[in-house]
Amino acid sequence: MIQVPRGTQDILPEESYKWQYIEKKLHEIAKNYNYEEIRTPMFESTDLFVRAVGGSTDIVNKEMYTFKDKGDRSLTLRPEGTAPVVRSYIENKMQHNVEQPVKLFYLAPMFRYERKQKGRYRQFVQFGVEAIGVEDPLIDVEVLSMLMNIYRSFGLKNLKLVINSIGDIESRNEYNKALVEHFSPRIDEFCNDCQTRINTNPMRILDCKVDRDHELVKTAPRMYDYLNDESKAYFETVKAKLDELNINYEVDYNLVRGLDYYTHTAFELMSDAEGFGAITTLCGGGRYNGLLEMMDGPDKTGIGFALSIERLLLALEAEGIEIPKDKGIDLYICTMTDEARNAAGTLLHKLRSRNISADMDYENRKLKAQMKDADRKNAQYTIVLGEDELDSRQADLKNMETGETVKLSFDDIINTLEEL
Ligand code: HAM
Repeated sequence: MIQVPRGTQDILPEESYKWQYIEKKLHEIAKNYNYEEIRTPMFESTDLFVRAVGGSTDIVNKEMYTFKDKGDRSLTLRPEGTAPVVRSYIENKMQHNVEQPVKLFYLAPMFRYERKQKGRYRQFVQFGVEAIGVEDPLIDVEVLSMLMNIYRSFGLKNLKLVINSIGDIESRNEYNKALVEHFSPRIDEFCNDCQTRINTNPMRILDCKVDRDHELVKTAPRMYDYLNDESKAYFETVKAKLDELNINYEVDYNLVRGLDYYTHTAFELMSDAEGFGAITTLCGGGRYNGLLEMMDGPDKTGIGFALSIERLLLALEAEGIEIPKDKGIDLYICTMTDEARNAAGTLLHKLRSRNISADMDYENRKLKAQMKDADRKNAQYTIVLGEDELDSRQADLKNMETGETVKLSFDDIINTLEEL
């Protein structure tokens, strides 16, 4: 039997109503902050991710679904959304849009070849936002405020926002030099990846899953001490504005994030709910000041974040928060005879074309079983069609919540439901 690919899942109706609820809410919040939707292709040139995310990151080195198409082009299923959005901003010359920053959101599947684990999938859905075109701590704070509002709007409480500053490119270079000095004398005690990282991207050593408990990782120089005055001032302003909005956070000087494009503000939102599991990061993001120029784009900067619906659902589950079920269908038609089944089909056609949700039994079941089915489908109203009803073209419309019934003609049933 062929099964769903490892690390992917079917989202069945018992679960999909939760997704719909979450997606609707995310659209609403995006609207409140005036972010508009962008849809980019599911796959892109492999080069895009190698350049933007970084050739020395785990995403690019180990996790990409890369393939050659029949024209011998190297393509990659997108592992994240920032690089495609930045590509699109540049390609569509959005720097000339009257309104800057251009504020975009996406809600789309991403693909990473990762080891399957609770909260870690090979296909997962990210909701992400990118505000591109203006460098201002106010935008950083707007993005963080949106992020916190999203999680709070679902009623989540056990949240921990962790922030850091990676500084500007100059500060980052100074810091990388300090890390090389720090790690070089004992680099042979580190994993093979880190022995490469020291030459390609020393900051990645701080993020290494293998060596994270090494003494030298714990005693590594702090990014903050290498921030130049401008970077420090930017970070201080962001923090002060977060304080003004009463957004709680912790500063973690070792937070470097797993992608190379970050400068200045970098952050992650964690769940500290009991039972959430080993992976606690719900969301990550940050500012990327050099990225557009590095991609041969205009001298513009951006900031954004992304979260996965899969992990949001886990957080809701860990905190015992239930997602309200859909209201169900308006009408369920029970039938007693074959003629009634035929008539029900015609009535359903009319009802649905008037925007009334309705259904019937297709299995010739006994009335009791049909009523059970109506309950399962959460029908607001039911009617039963038998010989009498077909003769009189009338039926008892039953309100399933109150048990009340009213006799109405078929046409009036439609009219009444439409009004309701
Ligand atoms: P990221 O930290 O790689 O950042 O991913 C962001 C979020 O995607 C994670 O916090 C997590 O919720 C979710 N996620 C990542 N991998 C998986 C997985 N295998 N299974 C389930 N969920 C996962 C980015 O992707 C950046 N593009 C974020 C960003 C936007 N930075 C600036 N703008």
